[in-house]
Amino acid sequence: MPLHLLQHPLGAHVLTHLRDKTTKPALFRTLSYQIALLLALEATRDLATEEKKIETPLEPVTGCVLAKPLVIVPILRAGLGMLQPFHDVFPDVSVGYVGLERDHTTAVARSYYCKLPPLAGTRVIIVDPMLATGGSAAQAVTVVKAAGGTEIVFVCIVAAPEGVATMQKAHPEVPIHAGALDRELNAKKYILPGLGDFGDRLYGT
Ligand code: PRP
Ligand code: URA
Repeated sequence: MPLHLLQHPLGAHVLTHLRDKTTKPALFRTLSYQIALLLALEATRDLATEEKKIETPLEPVTGCVLAKPLVIVPILRAGLGMLQPFHDVFPDVSVGYVGLERDHTTAVARSYYCKLPPLAGTRVIIVDPMLATGGSAAQAVTVVKAAGGTEIVFVCIVAAPEGVATMQKAHPEVPIHAGALDRELNAKKYILPGLGDFGDRLYGT
């Protein structure tokens, strides 16, 4: 599946301020909301709709409504920084949680929590701001598939080429929507130029 990169001047503007090391957690959270909102709209462009007959105050008309339930799955903890805009534009979504934490020396993600709603017949959108080695994202998709998810999309703010490659190898049918594709990973598996540790910057830790 192709990698979709956000093409919106506001996305580039917001991302620049997210990358800025002087941006403090309060503004960082607002900027995360803003870029995740743009990504939410992009990642749902192809949602199926079905016809619905309603009556305006003046006459009957056939409109369209969303045809499938939507499930958002933030990868804890940084993914929580992208959840609110999805909730705001799709108030009927169900939310599942997958808790994964990278080991600081190996960069391999360890699972510590999982709670998912029924996934059959839904569109599942997994959100995590950083796609670095791709280990966390690939593991989350595996968990979602094991729980019955079939139509899965992954959304991140910054992707590294290595992470995109991992996902395309492990889950080639899963589309990736990213705010930007960065250059590479450093020796500690952080994205360059990146924005540092997203969770730490979001929560001031
Ligand atoms: C970060 C990020 C991703 C993961 C990406 O989370 O939010 O989940 O790293 O790296 P990967 O692609 O190499 O797996 P982290 O493990 O630091 O946990 P946190 O969200 O609790 O800060
Ligand atoms: N996780 C982050 O928060 N940042 C990176 O650059 C890589 C993984």
